[in-house]
Amino acid sequence: MKHLIAPSILSADFANLQADIEMVNESQADWFHVDVMDGVFVPNISFGFPVITAIKHHAKKPLDVHLMMVDPDRYLEQFKKAGADILTVHIEACTHLHRTVSAIKGLGMKAGVALNPHTSVDLLEDIIEDIDLVCLMSVNPGFGGQKFIENTYHKIKKLRAMALAHNTDLLIEIDGGVGKSNALALLKAGADVLVAGNAVFADENPTEMIAELKKIRLDTFEV
Ligand code: DX5
Ligand code: ZN
Repeated sequence: MKHLIAPSILSADFANLQADIEMVNESQADWFHVDVMDGVFVPNISFGFPVITAIKHHAKKPLDVHLMMVDPDRYLEQFKKAGADILTVHIEACTHLHRTVSAIKGLGMKAGVALNPHTSVDLLEDIIEDIDLVCLMSVNPGFGGQKFIENTYHKIKKLRAMALAHNTDLLIEIDGGVGKSNALALLKAGADVLVAGNAVFADENPTEMIAELKKIRLDTFEV
């Protein structure tokens, strides 16, 4: 499968959001990555339903909504109504993860599970067959523009092996500090979806940066 690129709206210009949404629409990006932060699970607050609804109004590509919040179960239906296509919850924030994942899928969304950098992929063993996506955080969540954590490669390889054995449709998404310098290595390790915030929106030509990330070819691997 060709890998997917998901620009993170957290790094967009909120005073001119429509222009950035149109840029992503016209680009080779596959999804909009939409970060929701509650100020409790992470030390930052981003945006909520009115902003997601507004993004959905203009977006021509799926919304990949990443919930960095405690007790997400209370709001699953509202995220569906706001326009989420893929809804990802943090394993560290869900006491009854199987129930949460079932509810997400019951609402007609794809279900994702995100792991903080310190959380072992081994914890997914008994849920991997029930989910569509795993988001491996390659920074501590809360802010855009942070430095990539190298241990992520080890986690991708381990998770890819688990997916080959238990869920070959699973998408492995990498979130945090992703850009041109590490994209090829991440794909080579087994990633499917690259989230990029700062790398795209801080570039002087975001459309071209998305194209560069998208054109990396698996057949350039020297394996
Ligand atoms: C971090 C967010 C990321 C963030 C990535 O908490 O989950 O999606 O926007 O931004 P960059 O690519 O700038 O690290
Ligand atoms: Zn994110």
